Amino acid sequence: MDDNGPDKVFAELKTRDIGGWGVAQIAAGSGLAVYAMWVGILQPGFRKVPLSLQVPYIPASKAQVDHVMTLLRGRKGGLVDLGSGDGRIVLEAHRQGFTPAVGYELNPWLVLMARFHAWRAGHHEKVSYRREDLWKVDLTECKNVTVFLAPSVLSLLQQKLEAELPDDALMVAGRFPFPDWTPCRIEGHGVDRAWAYSMQAQRRNTFKKNDRQLTDIDLNKELTNEKGST
Ligand SMILES: C[S@@+](CC[C@H](N)C(=O)[O-])C[C@H]1O[C@@H](n2cnc3c(N)ncnc32)[C@H](O)[C@@H]1O
Repeated sequence: MDDNGPDKVFAELKTRDIGGWGVAQIAAGSGLAVYAMWVGILQPGFRKVPLSLQVPYIPASKAQVDHVMTLLRGRKGGLVDLGSGDGRIVLEAHRQGFTPAVGYELNPWLVLMARFHAWRAGHHEKVSYRREDLWKVDLTECKNVTVFLAPSVLSLLQQKLEAELPDDALMVAGRFPFPDWTPCRIEGHGVDRAWAYSMQAQRRNTFKKNDRQLTDIDLNKELTNEKGST
């Protein structure tokens, strides 16, 4: 029998004390493998995106997709999903009658996967998945926009949306709400929850808030002037 056969090697490994250095090597090796997977498979295309704006891929649950679609019911025209992942929201939006239904996604593997899903469902000519950075997409013509992104980037995204979206646009956020906005409707519970925001109502709220802040500043100025003159 071969003295160096796999059974012998495994038996020896089981009994051998690998020691601190061995543990360190295994830890470093596993860390490297996870990092390689992250860089090569999960996050390619993100090299030019600042680390603070990088959002990992987590697919929306079936219930989350349903809640997003419920909030969009009655809306017409096109739909854009910012960070479209494997394309499930875009595909469902197309099934619900949104045309054109477009997904923007930086990860090329996910763009391929989304196109494959659309092809398998027989809708590949009707939906479109573009490999583009969502921060660079012009949203001035978009009436229906969906996002499922990390809370850390939502506050910055609010500013882009407020600056670009038309007044009659509806924004729907899945899993995490926009931190400073007031939703007009909410669907679902827990991790499957989705929030809808009317752009027009949102702009009115922001205007009122800014107006109140300016009045407070004026009042404070007047009080300081009065104190100074007495
Ligand atoms: C949490 S996943 C959501 C995927 C999909 N929308 C869904 O609901 O199943 C967020 C997605 O946004 C993508 N993403 C993050 N930053 C992006 C950027 N700057 N431009 C385009 N896509 C981005 C990620 O690659 C990831 O697929």
